[in-house]
Amino acid sequence: MDEDQGGLEVPCPEISETVESQGPAEPQTVESSTIGKNVYVLRCVGCHGIDGSGVVGPDIRPGEVLEKYASAESMEALVREGLGEMPEFGSKLSDAEIAAVVAYVRGGLG
Ligand code: HEC
Repeated sequence: MDEDQGGLEVPCPEISETVESQGPAEPQTVESSTIGKNVYVLRCVGCHGIDGSGVVGPDIRPGEVLEKYASAESMEALVREGLGEMPEFGSKLSDAEIAAVVAYVRGGLG
């Protein structure tokens, strides 16, 4: 008896890759939350701290400050015009940057 055991390979089923739909292509825009964070880190961290808990400036984490500045517009005006020891940013930042940093602060700095 001389059995030949070769040739019994089971063919691998072809792995069909599911091409996941990416949906319609969205234009590549820098998210305003990223801009807000960048502005915050560049302009506000020194006085308000990375988490907003305050250094020279007060705690601006969501809480009382959102009662004081109930609308985003009122907080944007504060940042634009400054208050007491806080410098004005109206001459240093664009309206879009101010809106972005305020949204970042109001959103809990994260
Ligand atoms: C030189 C330090 C300094 C810098 C820089 C600074 N702040 Fe302030 N900020 C202060 C001080 C001081 C106050 C309190 C002003 C007062 O009540 O007289 C304040 C107040 C605030 C308030 C209101 C807090 C409250 O309870 O009334 C917000 C909101 C705020 N800052 C956001 C920002 C943002 C956003 C930036 C960056 C664009 C920034 N600050 C940059 C010092 C600073």
